[in-house]
Amino acid sequence: MTLQSFGVIGLAVMGENIALNVERNGFPIAVYNRSRDKTDRFMAERAQGRNAKASFTLEDFVASLERPRKILVMVQAGKPVDAVIGQLKPLLNEGDIIIDGGNSWYEDTERRTQDLEPTGLRYLGMGVSGGEEGALNGPSLMPGGTESSYQYLSPIFNKIAAQVDDGACVTYIGPGGSGHYVKMVHNGIEYGDMQLIAEAYDLLKNVAGLDSKQLHEVFAEWNTTDELNSFLIEITANIFPYIDPDTKKPLVELVMDAAGQKGTGRWTVQTALDLGVPVPTIVAAVNSRIISSYKEERIAASKQLTGPSGKYDGQTKEFINMVRDALYCSKICSYAQGMALLYKASNTYNWNLQLGEMARIWKGGCIIRAGFLNKIKNAYAENASLANLLLAPEFKQTILDRQNAWRSVIMTAAKLGIPVPAFSASLDYFDSYRRERLPQNLTQAQRDYFGAHTYKRIDKEGTFHTEWVPVEESK
Ligand code: 6PG
Repeated sequence: MTLQSFGVIGLAVMGENIALNVERNGFPIAVYNRSRDKTDRFMAERAQGRNAKASFTLEDFVASLERPRKILVMVQAGKPVDAVIGQLKPLLNEGDIIIDGGNSWYEDTERRTQDLEPTGLRYLGMGVSGGEEGALNGPSLMPGGTESSYQYLSPIFNKIAAQVDDGACVTYIGPGGSGHYVKMVHNGIEYGDMQLIAEAYDLLKNVAGLDSKQLHEVFAEWNTTDELNSFLIEITANIFPYIDPDTKKPLVELVMDAAGQKGTGRWTVQTALDLGVPVPTIVAAVNSRIISSYKEERIAASKQLTGPSGKYDGQTKEFINMVRDALYCSKICSYAQGMALLYKASNTYNWNLQLGEMARIWKGGCIIRAGFLNKIKNAYAENASLANLLLAPEFKQTILDRQNAWRSVIMTAAKLGIPVPAFSASLDYFDSYRRERLPQNLTQAQRDYFGAHTYKRIDKEGTFHTEWVPVEESK
């Protein structure tokens, strides 16, 4: 029997498409799915005429693969991954490689690596971004684990990944759970981008009064610019003109304004808090999804809590340009936070992440792909130990040039009662980061007052505690 080169377990949307991508690139595939129906449908339809072999037991699936076996697991993150690994483990031989391509929690990946590698099996935790289309035609891949396992797989990964001007959108990320960590932060940044775009839409629609045709035109135009050209702006432009066939209205206006989330944005925030890295734009994005989901409560509150009633009295064209500048400045701050988080995680866990490479492999294939990532890549090429992207000459100058517009948009939003949590959080991040003195001297004094937590002084060395007695008594 001829053996297949690459195995895929799990034929949901991502698994099915990535399997076809691997096969199209010249690697015969073996597939297995827990329910037989899906496998039958896949083989009868999309895998027709392809070099694909289906199995209906894991034993047959494993036996259909050449050694060392390369098995990509594309099942739901969490317990299903452990279940598949548990079933595969006794069937595999030394040197075989399991790759988890789901959105797994990075500590689970660390645990699984520690569990499997001493047995002689090899394990990679790989972030895969790009949705259905990316999986089929070229995703961005973020593989983490032992480097020798990566080297073994790199010829396949390099072929199936998205290709951009400076190579395939894949690189060895680092050991252990680093690949899944980087993918998680990618998703946190994705949440930030999506929220910033949603706020721009809200302002353009409800302050500037643009209709769906005009919204389409503005986003389509922004997508041609060096700064904002990106997959998310492109799909936003495409969403507005879509007319619902039943009602003949723009479909987006009929979509329930309650956002879902599978958890990677929340994880980004949780790990950032644990590592002590501020990511306020991403926090605002997660919170905005949460508050949007309180639809019933918001409907009830909207009948009781009124806001300001004024109208914007400036020029529409000028306002649109200011929103564009506010969006871009906020986006820079959001990426600065995400990259700072990767920098801290890399130092904390000794991952040796190459931040410029992260930006490079996000240039194509993934959800946050954008021309802007080339600027980030260049910023790290100029200075690999850049503490914060805000200090890179290009980004610094952009913000300095555009901050007036950014502030003005946020002031208009506040005046008219339009929430812009991610725009504001980004500006607060910028203003906090750029200020030599913040008011936390008072926080320290309070902590020392009520809890004797001690403080340091700016005028002399040492650690101090004061009995902060009321003024009259201290006289
Ligand atoms: C990607 C995406 C993907 C993610 C979805 C949904 O990079 O292809 O990030 O991995 O699962 O976008 O995420 P939420 O349901 O959390 O919005």
